[in-house]
Amino acid sequence: MAAAVTYLHLWLFSCLAVISIAQAQDPDHFIYNHGFGHANLQLDGSAKVFSNGLLQLTNTSRLQIGHAFYPSPVNFTTSSSSTSARALSFSTNFVIAIVPGSKEASGHGIAFVIADSTDFRHAGGTQYLGLVNESTNGNSSNHFFAVEFDTIFSIPTDNIDGNHVGIDLNGVKSYQSVASAYFSNEDRKNISLDLKNGQPIQVWIVYDGQQELLNVTLAPENIPKPNQPLLSTSINLSDILKDTMYVGFSAATGSVLESCSHYIMGWSFNRSGEAQSLDISELPELPKNGGRSNTVRLISIIAAVVLLLIIIGTAYVYRRKKYEEVKEDWEKEYGPQRFSYKTLYIATKGFKDKQLLGSGGFGKVYKGTLSYSNEQIAVKKVSHESNQGMKEFVSEIVSMGRLRHKNLVRLLGYCRRKKELLLVYDHMENGSLDKFLFNDDKPTLNWFHRFQIIKGVASALLYLHEDSEQVVLHRDIKASNVLLDSDLNGRLGDFGLARLYDRDGDPQTTRLVGTLGYLDPELTRTGKATKTADMFAFGAFLLEVACGRKPFDPNKPPQEIFLVDIVKRCWTRDAIIDAIDPRLHGNHVAEEMEKVLKLGLLCSNPKPDLRPTIKEVVQYLEGNSSLPDILLDTVQNIPSSILETLSQSTEVNNVSTANNLASDCIISFSSSAGQGVSLNSLSSTNSVLHTGR
Ligand SMILES: *[C@@H]1O[C@H](CO)[C@@H](O)[C@H](O)[C@H]1NC(C)=O
Ligand SMILES: *[C@@H]1O[C@H](CO)[C@@H](O)[C@H](O)[C@H]1NC(C)=O
Ligand SMILES: *[C@@H]1O[C@H](CO)[C@@H](O)[C@H](O)[C@H]1NC(C)=O
Ligand SMILES: *[C@@H]1O[C@H](CO)[C@@H](O)[C@H](O)[C@H]1NC(C)=O
Ligand SMILES: *[C@@H]1O[C@H](CO)[C@@H](O)[C@H](O)[C@H]1NC(C)=O
Ligand SMILES: *[C@@H]1O[C@H](CO)[C@@H](O)[C@H](O)[C@H]1NC(C)=O
Ligand SMILES: *[C@@H]1O[C@H](CO)[C@@H](O)[C@H](O)[C@H]1NC(C)=O
Ligand SMILES: *[C@@H]1O[C@H](CO)[C@@H](O)[C@H](O)[C@H]1NC(C)=O
Repeated sequence: MAAAVTYLHLWLFSCLAVISIAQAQDPDHFIYNHGFGHANLQLDGSAKVFSNGLLQLTNTSRLQIGHAFYPSPVNFTTSSSSTSARALSFSTNFVIAIVPGSKEASGHGIAFVIADSTDFRHAGGTQYLGLVNESTNGNSSNHFFAVEFDTIFSIPTDNIDGNHVGIDLNGVKSYQSVASAYFSNEDRKNISLDLKNGQPIQVWIVYDGQQELLNVTLAPENIPKPNQPLLSTSINLSDILKDTMYVGFSAATGSVLESCSHYIMGWSFNRSGEAQSLDISELPELPKNGGRSNTVRLISIIAAVVLLLIIIGTAYVYRRKKYEEVKEDWEKEYGPQRFSYKTLYIATKGFKDKQLLGSGGFGKVYKGTLSYSNEQIAVKKVSHESNQGMKEFVSEIVSMGRLRHKNLVRLLGYCRRKKELLLVYDHMENGSLDKFLFNDDKPTLNWFHRFQIIKGVASALLYLHEDSEQVVLHRDIKASNVLLDSDLNGRLGDFGLARLYDRDGDPQTTRLVGTLGYLDPELTRTGKATKTADMFAFGAFLLEVACGRKPFDPNKPPQEIFLVDIVKRCWTRDAIIDAIDPRLHGNHVAEEMEKVLKLGLLCSNPKPDLRPTIKEVVQYLEGNSSLPDILLDTVQNIPSSILETLSQSTEVNNVSTANNLASDCIISFSSSAGQGVSLNSLSSTNSVLHTGR
């Protein structure tokens, strides 16, 4: 009994299943308002149904073709029982969306199709919309009717423009076509509608078989069905529609790089009456990050990458510029002595003012720390105009860097930039000697240290003049070029730098470089740097260390402007010790002090050949020989100064400005043979004074 009931159930269930299948296979009407998930559509090509039920016929890739057909044929039999014409009527309502992959993307298009077959294997894409190929286009044996929504204008298929709706019979050469638009019930006018605006568009197609009238109406999804169709045309479909026809959609993309995605969002069809309206709110949604936003994302990624590249490029160029150097082939051999600008830039924290140790006639000096060795360095930035003679100069500088003496500031290397030469020295903890001598904020140096410094500088000069492989003229000996290490030992710096100025500018003129008060008057006549000129400057140096004032001080009364005058007067009074630095408070070794002052006067002798050599000076200082008294007679003839010398032999235009002159100025004269020298301008601190022709 129980078994019989079970069998009955099974039988009933089988009958119901057969009935439901039969209903699906004999479609008179159907509606897909919630997607095509269970529609079992016949898909081919690129067509697919998304998990939300959305039907995609093509994605945005080029040359795609996709078809989707209702699974079973529709019965268009013109049975004798009913009026034959009426039997061909149908009504359909669907929602399409054509979503471009990018702003420039093109179609090709989508079509609603009623065809006698679902086999479109030989059909072409693009303008053939997946319906025909070139040879079959328009052949009456095709038996299809289509309404195309074409988004490209293509000449062979005779479309009217790139945004149109057309009626296709057996081919894509439209029977009739019209620009895409919809009739606005409110405005009572046609409003054009961009088919590939990416938004859902609702379409109504109604064919009245009796009147042989086809109406096609479309509107954006949020607009109710327009009262007037876009297209209303009489058409005889009896030759096209066979007894059983398949209904569905075909779409194809263009041949250009980026195309449109073609979607069907909902569909109803009816053979026996008006197709049910679709509930727009129930339709599956278009992908939010669909074709367009994928491209948008791609574009923004590309844009970001490009932007990043630009930033990196700019930073690279900026860095290149920032650390840009001048480097020539001949410099290869100086590799070890050559510093990269970047290293120096980092060492000096970008040449910050905080790192500034001082500035003189040759340029600014910055303190730095080499990151790789923690070594303290001083970087001198020397500006120079021309590249002329740079090779020679660098070679000299580098060879000077090989000089080793405990009383010389070591030159570690150099770097070149446009209009800039950077010289790297050992950093001297206590700075330059002049600050100790002339600035009140520094503690007074006692005589022991001063005498040590004098002896140290003398031995350095001896090394430069006599002991090193080549004769090196310093050309700018003065207290501000003597640096003090942590033990207050004096070290001579800046040797050879004056040479740089020899090479700047007019080769016709000779430039003399030195500092007023230290400058050998003889130089203005001959223009030739000599050992004796160094000795003149060394004499001025001796006096300033002993007396604690600058050799040239324009702020003093006339008879005291030049230190050598004061010392000379004291000496003629037989009281040379009166000239010494009052800050020593008499705490000095009289014998040493006298020796230093007298040596200072001897070296200041205007006659170069009467000045002692550095070798003699060292001997006197070390006490290995006594001062030659006879030479002291000549000191009486010492003219006050270089200015006096200059004014005797040359025209001085602007002496009054000498009062503005700070004593650490560098003076440079240009003179050409036979023309004499005129002192044209004297400017303030840190400038190089030029006297031209
Ligand atoms: C489109 O679909 C095809 C396969 O049908 C695939 O190869 C292609 O990568 C897809 N293109 C995009 C843009 O998703
Ligand atoms: C089509 O419809 C006619 C009459 O409406 C019917 O006689 C015929 O069997 C149907 N054909 C199919 C294949 O369903
Ligand atoms: C066009 O299609 C027909 C069948 O539909 C096929 O026989 C023919 O080879 C196709 N022609 C081309 C050029 O693909
Ligand atoms: C139309 O197609 C049929 C069958 O494919 C073919 O025999 C016929 O020649 C074609 N007609 C034209 C005009 O191409
Ligand atoms: C709207 O366009 C259709 C088709 O082009 C045309 O027949 C109709 O007259 C137009 N209606 C208005 C109000 O312009
Ligand atoms: C088709 O459109 C015409 C013109 O608006 C209208 O008169 C006719 O009733 C429409 N036919 C159908 C079946 O909607
Ligand atoms: C439609 O075409 C068929 C077949 O060619 C023909 O028999 C019928 O008379 C046509 N209808 C009208 C209204 O012309
Ligand atoms: C088809 O038309 C008939 C008659 O108007 C109607 O009852 C039925 O709901 C319609 N079906 C669809 C799916 O449109």
